Amino acid sequence: MPFRHSQPMPQSRNMIAERLLAWYDRHHRDLPWRVTPAQQRSGATADPYRVWLSEIMLQQTTVEAVKPYFRDFTARWPTVAALAGSASDDIMKAWAGLGYYSRARNLRKCADVVAAEHGGAFPDHYDGLLSLPGIGPYTAAAIAAIAFNRPEPVVDGNVERVVSRLERIETPLPAAKPEIRAAVARMLSTERPGDFAQAMMDLGATICTPRWPACILCPLKDGCAALAAGDPELFPVKAAKKARPTRRGRAFW
Ligand code: ADE
Repeated sequence: MPFRHSQPMPQSRNMIAERLLAWYDRHHRDLPWRVTPAQQRSGATADPYRVWLSEIMLQQTTVEAVKPYFRDFTARWPTVAALAGSASDDIMKAWAGLGYYSRARNLRKCADVVAAEHGGAFPDHYDGLLSLPGIGPYTAAAIAAIAFNRPEPVVDGNVERVVSRLERIETPLPAAKPEIRAAVARMLSTERPGDFAQAMMDLGATICTPRWPACILCPLKDGCAALAAGDPELFPVKAAKKARPTRRGRAFW
C-alpha cells in the first residue's frame, strides 16, 4: 500500500542559507563599508552610497587595497551629493593607485545622475541601478541586495567557486554562468539577501579558497558535492585557453 501522509509535509527549510548565515553571524569579516549583523540588530541599515562606492572600488581590486581608499573617499565626500559637487580632478587624484581609471570617471557621472535625476537617492531596485553610469549587472545586483535587501543573486568569482563546488558543476566557465546564477537564486535567503550575498563572498575569500580550501571549517561541508567526491580543487572548471599561434617575423634595419 502506498505510504500516505496524514499531515502536510513540512516546508523544506533552506538549510544552505540557514547554515551560511549562522556562520556569517559569527565569522564575518569587519569591513569599513559593511553593516554587521550585530549593528543591524541595533537598528543600523546600509547606506546605499557607501555600498555603491565600495562595489565600484572592489571591481578588479582586492579588499585590502580598497580599504584605505574607501576611508579616504568617505571622509572627503560623505554623501553622493558631496561627490556630485566636487571637482573631477580631485576625484582622479584621490583614486590614483587604484587603477582602471574609467571607474573613477564614471563615479562622478553616476553621482551627478543620482543627484540631478533621482533627488540624491539611489534607485532601490535592480533595473533602476542598472540604468546608472558605471553600474553593470553584477554591481546592480550587489547594491540591490546589500543596500536594499532585494533577493537578487549576486555572483562574483568567489561565489562562482563556492557554488560550482557545492553542486559539482562540470560545465566550464564562462558557459556555466547561467547555471551558477540559477543555483544562487534557488539557495539565497529571502529574509537576509544582503547578508547572504556578503556571506557567500566571505566564504569564498576565507574558506572555499582556490587552493587548499579549509573544508573542515566550512558551514556547507555536509551538502558539498565536490567535497563528497574528494575533488573540490578541480572546480570551477575553466574552458581551456585557446593555443596562441606562433607568429614569426623578421626585422630589417
Ligand atoms: N567583493 C565585492 N563586494 C564585496 C563585499 N561587499 N564584501 C566583500 N567582498 C566583496
